[in-house]
Amino acid sequence: MKHLLSIEALSGAEIERVIALGLRLKALRGKPAHPRPLRGQTWAMIFGKSSTRTRVSFEVGLRELGGSPLFLGMHDIQLGRGETIEDTAQVLSRYVHGAIIRTYGQDEVETFARVGSIPVINALTDDEHPCQILSDLMTWAETLGMRSLRAKGALARALRGKTAVFFGDAACNVARSWIFAAARLGFRLRLAAPKAFLPSREVLARARADVTCFNDPATAARGADLLYTDTWISMGKEAEERRRLRALAPWRIHARIVREAKPGALVMHCLPAYRGNEISAEVFDAHARVIFEQAENRLHLQKAVLAEIAR
Ligand code: CP
Ligand code: NVA
Repeated sequence: MKHLLSIEALSGAEIERVIALGLRLKALRGKPAHPRPLRGQTWAMIFGKSSTRTRVSFEVGLRELGGSPLFLGMHDIQLGRGETIEDTAQVLSRYVHGAIIRTYGQDEVETFARVGSIPVINALTDDEHPCQILSDLMTWAETLGMRSLRAKGALARALRGKTAVFFGDAACNVARSWIFAAARLGFRLRLAAPKAFLPSREVLARARADVTCFNDPATAARGADLLYTDTWISMGKEAEERRRLRALAPWRIHARIVREAKPGALVMHCLPAYRGNEISAEVFDAHARVIFEQAENRLHLQKAVLAEIAR
């Protein structure tokens, strides 16, 4: 793996390899055998949007792998005053060993990767949130009892025939990364969202995943293995808050929706959560253990991405 720019750009085998390594690093955390492949490296973290999980887990993860993080708020560097991505990429490539970027346009991370000479990790754009979905898949694997992935294709085999449902803003970055994950690993994905919040036909055609769109939340949940949601107001969409709260209210995951899913179905959330909007407080609390495990797995999985890139 040279960069991690999107789930779309990964193969199923790459996804499985990085999750397998995430599981290994989770087991090794704090032990003498834990590897430090980034010894002597400094990685820039260029963030143009807020973050708790991604920022902290990358900073901690870089240190645990022997490297040093250099956090650069996008507005603290000249990029925020109009210096081009291209020039920033050229300059930073001479100082640091890699760049972790959270921004708006997917084209910005793609351009940085193309023009610079260092590896680039997408820490969330408007199009994709690959680190999140890889961590979610790792969490899904763990809930299926997989503490390691030894055989090739083991995760795809375990997920074959399983159904995940994404509720709410199915046009957002997290949903889109789920769509490409479904395409790469072969599980079924349902999108439970009003028409205005479905991904474009072009994205669905490009993904060639087993995706079905539902206009009734209860039907979408029926018999599902995993129910997933994300904030209704992604970063950058704040001006649409009122319209979104109104349009998405019927798509909240609440107890009646969960009862439609398979007994013991997972409920997942990438966080931050807004209880009473995309998920009821009751459902959140009942599934908090797995939701916070997803958050923890960001650390292990992103360390695996960094170690894979450093290989
Ligand atoms: N899930 C996630 O990316 O959280 P942060 O915005 O806090 O990084
Ligand atoms: N879709 C959300 C994810 C936050 C982690 C956003 O882009 O704000």
